[in-house]
Amino acid sequence: MKPLIAGNWKMNGVSASLGEADKIAGLVAAMKSAPEVVVCPPATLIAQLVRRMQERPVGVGGQDCHPKSSGAHTGDISAEMLADAGALYVIVGHSERRQDHGETDDVVKDKAEAARRAGLIPIVCVGETEAERRAGRHEAVVRRQVAGSLPNGEGPLVVAYEPVWAIGTGLTPTLEDIADMHRLVRELAGPAVRILYGGSVKPQNAHEILGVENVDGALVGGASLKADDFFAIISSAKGAR
Ligand code: PGA
Repeated sequence: MKPLIAGNWKMNGVSASLGEADKIAGLVAAMKSAPEVVVCPPATLIAQLVRRMQERPVGVGGQDCHPKSSGAHTGDISAEMLADAGALYVIVGHSERRQDHGETDDVVKDKAEAARRAGLIPIVCVGETEAERRAGRHEAVVRRQVAGSLPNGEGPLVVAYEPVWAIGTGLTPTLEDIADMHRLVRELAGPAVRILYGGSVKPQNAHEILGVENVDGALVGGASLKADDFFAIISSAKGAR
């Protein structure tokens, strides 16, 4: 399957930052063989980015959506609204949302199903905390999250394995640990699901991480904010030329 490199800008970026996406699109367009590339900017930039990426090889995604399609939910954005703005993907269940907003597996599953309902491809995030890994509970935790957060029904799906202790810390699991966790997710999620690794992916470690079996791409936070770094990661995908 074609690798997917997704950038998660988190709560970073204003209109002036869209130049970075322009630069990425130009670099990806010049590749002989490119992975699929998606940028998930803050919601305020989605419509602008979609306009700028028309006919260009960079897709646009949201970072979260509400389970309902509309209603009295001040500050929330529905999957239908993201689709209407031109998004193709939406991240759901990122650990920062699970932690900061108390999102449970049930809520994440509802959001993933909302994404499908709206015609978006959900990127469902799972991953253990540092304490859970130290206690040897990482497999059990990810098993529970995959069982509880993945949407029912048919359709394209992306799962991102992101150990919480690796996000924004510069720490990464060993390649063997990544291989073990991705094998587990593959067993649980099935052969058709793209499984991304996320957590401190950088130009320096991208090639070896993206070369691991069952790693079908990366979800990149910090290093997706600078076009040169993000492009170095894109160029490290399997089959990229
Ligand atoms: P990071 O974030 O690449 O900055 O570690 C990854 C993520 O949270 O998706």
